[in-house]
Amino acid sequence: MIQYTGYLAIHKFEAELERELEIRGLTVALKKDRLYLVEGQHPPLIWAQMTAFEMEFESVTSINDAARKLKARGRNWGLFTVGSHRRAELIQSELPKLNTKPILFRHPLPTTPMGFWTLWEPDQILMTTKTSSPFALGEMDFQEDKVMPPSRAYLKLWEFFTVYAPEAIHGGTSIDVGSCPGGWTWVLRTLEFDKIISVDKAPIEKRIMDMGRIDFRKESAFGLDPNDFAEIDWFCSDIICYPERLLNLVKRFRDSGKVKNFVCTIKYQSETDWEQTLKFLEIPNSRIVHLHHNKHEVTWFLKGDQQ
Ligand SMILES: C[S@@+](CC[C@H](N)C(=O)[O-])C[C@H]1O[C@@H](n2cnc3c(N)ncnc32)[C@H](O)[C@@H]1O
Repeated sequence: MIQYTGYLAIHKFEAELERELEIRGLTVALKKDRLYLVEGQHPPLIWAQMTAFEMEFESVTSINDAARKLKARGRNWGLFTVGSHRRAELIQSELPKLNTKPILFRHPLPTTPMGFWTLWEPDQILMTTKTSSPFALGEMDFQEDKVMPPSRAYLKLWEFFTVYAPEAIHGGTSIDVGSCPGGWTWVLRTLEFDKIISVDKAPIEKRIMDMGRIDFRKESAFGLDPNDFAEIDWFCSDIICYPERLLNLVKRFRDSGKVKNFVCTIKYQSETDWEQTLKFLEIPNSRIVHLHHNKHEVTWFLKGDQQ
């Protein structure tokens, strides 16, 4: 039986996924709506909100038959409809209810596998129990803090430190460049760092400064000299700038040997800058992901234990 790797493109970023498939030399065998199928086993891609491994087709004779076949394989099923929407929803309603409660920052991730299925034709399902995310269709939502963070940018760092860097933090220093109005600095302040260096040409909000342990520097991040710093545990950047400028800044700090971990948003203008994006990936052991809370931007990171 033919197995496929399914890539669910992010809404409005289908062109990015198509370009990435091309760059990776992956040929699309079948496609419906935002779902792209490639024969064989392949790794997750940046611009897929979820990657579904070992997908298989199976014939079904009725709504009950489809629900029975899905339930026989697993408990949790995220549905993406590509047609026959009503019929697909009826099948989904026969499956166990999903826990869709928004999660807390740093809450352990669900451990039950999250399946993915679609009704490809009225009498044919496409399914797998193996996906890249424990959340249905890769969509994770937080119980938001509507009081403290001065911008919604904090959700990116919440997602990053919940999904990709859940390890405990014991003191140390973090630096947040491009920090105004203070969402990321606030997140770092709620973690266990001894000191947060916050850098922007514009000030961060007073209520964040008033939390203490924050050393705010009103200057351009591009003028910073790594030699002026002691050890930095986390270098965080959400600066709005050309990817090439960010790459040069990151390289300067990485070459200094002072930084253990990096997490940086690579922001794009109207076009996705693939040339610079691929240069970021040349930094050994680093990764790029498109967080659920990223827009036309991606998150590059490098963890010390992998350097
Ligand atoms: C998207 S905002 C950051 C939001 C922030 N992470 C938060 O959570 O509130 C981007 C910031 O980059 C800053 N920025 C742009 N160029 C900069 C530079 N050369 N040095 C420092 N900050 C810069 C802007 O002033 C702006 O505040």
